[in-house]
Amino acid sequence: MRNTFAIDISHIRQEARQHLMQGPVTPSNTTDVDRVITVLNQVLASEMVCYLRYTQNAIIAQGIDREQVASLFQNHAAEELGHFQRVSDRINQLGGSPDMNPATMMERAHTEYFAPNDDNDLQGMIRENLVAERIVIEAYTEIIRWLGDSDITSRRLIEEILKEEEDHADELTDLFEG
Ligand SMILES: [Fe+2]
Ligand SMILES: [Fe+2]
Repeated sequence: MRNTFAIDISHIRQEARQHLMQGPVTPSNTTDVDRVITVLNQVLASEMVCYLRYTQNAIIAQGIDREQVASLFQNHAAEELGHFQRVSDRINQLGGSPDMNPATMMERAHTEYFAPNDDNDLQGMIRENLVAERIVIEAYTEIIRWLGDSDITSRRLIEEILKEEEDHADELTDLFEG
């Protein structure tokens, strides 16, 4: 098997000159690009909902463990915003439009928005953020499996984000008292 890898470079050169307006989307991207854009717009919405939830919770958090919990939420919020931006860039790269319309954000998001009634309910906040992380971990894993080898750059992006979501879940678990 080791010596069977070969590239038909003249074919690749010829293909590269076709459909130039598709920019980085070449024939080896065998996926349904419109479907990927739709799915990435759902990821974009999930990331924004997570950013808003963490930011809101960080600001309102009260109580004895406030400092530790709020700074964790703030760090996570900053990373969710980074995910939001990277996914938006990828949608743009694929020739799609990053959908930042707040009116449809909740329909598209995998996760839910949670604002506690009680500012002292740090454990409730940790629990709901942990639930949201577990939802995106599951959803992004499915997306990675679905993308397979068809759009490697999008898959890698989601893989990188997944790694950070797992770190988030791990850090929340450390503070969660069940
Ligand atoms: Fe995220
Ligand atoms: Fe996260």
